[in-house]
Amino acid sequence: MLDSYAVIGNPIAHSKSPLIHSAFAQQTNQALHYGAILAPLDDFRETVESFRQQGGKGLNVTVPFKLEAYQLATRLTERASIAQAVNTLKFENDEILGDNTDGAGLVRDIEHNLEISIADKRILLMGAGGAARGVILPLLQQKPALLAIANRTAQKAQALQQQFDAYGHIAAGSFMHFSGENFDIIVNATSASLHDAMPELPDGIFAHTALAYDMMYSHEPTRFLQFAQKNGARQIADGIGMLVEQAAESFLLWRGIRPETKPVIARLKSFI
Ligand code: ATR
Repeated sequence: MLDSYAVIGNPIAHSKSPLIHSAFAQQTNQALHYGAILAPLDDFRETVESFRQQGGKGLNVTVPFKLEAYQLATRLTERASIAQAVNTLKFENDEILGDNTDGAGLVRDIEHNLEISIADKRILLMGAGGAARGVILPLLQQKPALLAIANRTAQKAQALQQQFDAYGHIAAGSFMHFSGENFDIIVNATSASLHDAMPELPDGIFAHTALAYDMMYSHEPTRFLQFAQKNGARQIADGIGMLVEQAAESFLLWRGIRPETKPVIARLKSFI
């Protein structure tokens, strides 16, 4: 029987993970099956358990189950433990290993694919939900000069600042709190783009910005990316690179091989 993996979420129909992992498997000559599982909102644990009982080797976990996956894991990597969210499960004997590859995916896309170094840069991270939390530690590990966290609800950004204070230089506040400041890299980790919206940002915030990055993606550049480009950002990027890179990091954890991501990113971009 082929080793079996899947992405689990709700909804799941539009997930690109089966396509990405099938491309990785083909490229690396790994014999495996990768599917998609729709878990009922109130039945994540049992759905995972039944996949595991059938011999499943690992899962990618997506919205809205990353916190439940974190609670389900019997062992956590450091990055998953600190993010308090799990996007990758690996089943080994009786153990359920929980990892979080989202932040590594973002960092690798920025540094490796877009060739922009994070070290010594001023970074603005927009948002303070699960998507933002998952990338804070990996960003700080690249030693930026500053990581500013801005959120519509300022208290949530301040809570993250307190939690991650020991790992680097962090500032936090509302978007307007950063009025008059400049950033080299601005990352949108809010869910606003899902609703074709964008947070209201201070004038001039993109004046010295080398890269505006939206973790979301869509056929057209998101409203945030269009605004960033119009207001001075030199380069824009959507979340497709991050999506493929986080998948590659999961594949590495499961199979011990890091697949080539650039051809898969190019292929995905051609039909999104
Ligand atoms: P996720 O887990 O995907 O990050 P979440 O926990 O619901 O989702 O967080 C969504 C984030 O997007 C939050 O930072 C939210 O801001 P608030 O904390 O103030 O709610 C932000 N967000 C969503 N829609 C937004 C909008 N239209 N403008 C600004 N921020 C928005």
